[in-house]
Amino acid sequence: MENSDNKISQAADKIMNSRHLVAFTGAGISVESGIPSFRGEDGLWSKYDPQVLELSHFHQYPLESWTVIKEIFYDFFGEARPNPAHVVLADLEKSGLLKCVITQNIDNLHQTAGNTVVHEFHGNSHNLVCTKCKRHFGLAEVNLDVLPPKCGLCQGLLKPDFIFFGEGIPQQAYQASHIAAEKADVFLIIGSTGEVSPANQIPVHAKNTGATIIEVNPEKSRYTSYITDIHLKGKAGEIMTKLMEQISIKLKSKVIK
Ligand code: APR
Repeated sequence: MENSDNKISQAADKIMNSRHLVAFTGAGISVESGIPSFRGEDGLWSKYDPQVLELSHFHQYPLESWTVIKEIFYDFFGEARPNPAHVVLADLEKSGLLKCVITQNIDNLHQTAGNTVVHEFHGNSHNLVCTKCKRHFGLAEVNLDVLPPKCGLCQGLLKPDFIFFGEGIPQQAYQASHIAAEKADVFLIIGSTGEVSPANQIPVHAKNTGATIIEVNPEKSRYTSYITDIHLKGKAGEIMTKLMEQISIKLKSKVIK
């Protein structure tokens, strides 16, 4: 009973009284959508060799890399649908409480759920970029039945428009995330180990500039004993549903009063 209703109620109070709520999500929020996290026992990197996402390897062995990339990020991830945690974040945006989502995920599930302000720290698998002429393509414009996919304009090798190991963070997302962290008075971290830099600096920046940190994770992360104020221990879908129920009850009773 460590994760008491009391803690959820406390977090709900913080959220409904917030001025600028920001959510920061990691692989854990998509686990209940059937997408495994990266690290840990059942994580993707325990089954696949992460070198397929190393740029030099990708350029040297495009067919081999693309075969694995397609299997993980398009065939498998492609089936995934938003789960209740994604839906609650979309509802929180609609209600005006949530100002933006900063995500490390590349699965597009926040947008599918209905969030419109999403800063994608690591890019998005639904876009592809030509490694030669730098043109961008939507997934629907590319035929992944023939690998490796080539640019229809210059025949250059296409690469998913998410960042590979060693690549820099997209500038716009980086800056927007920093600004959002600074503005946040309540900052919600969902499903991230906090092991990957520079993304893991964003919640720390939020804390240092005055935000209350609420964390949703069934386990302890690097953030938990470092910056977290309220740890809601459990699966994202279950916790976010309970949290939203509490917020709705409190908002209704506020209106009645
Ligand atoms: N609900 C919430 N959290 C969960 C759930 C769940 N159902 N299941 C697992 N988790 C938590 C785990 O306890 C862990 O803390 O989600 C976290 C997943 O951690 P990682 O796999 O390390 O994911 P993340 O922090 O997003 O990784 C960052 O690493 O390889 C890169 O670019 C990749 O964006 C990714 C980055």
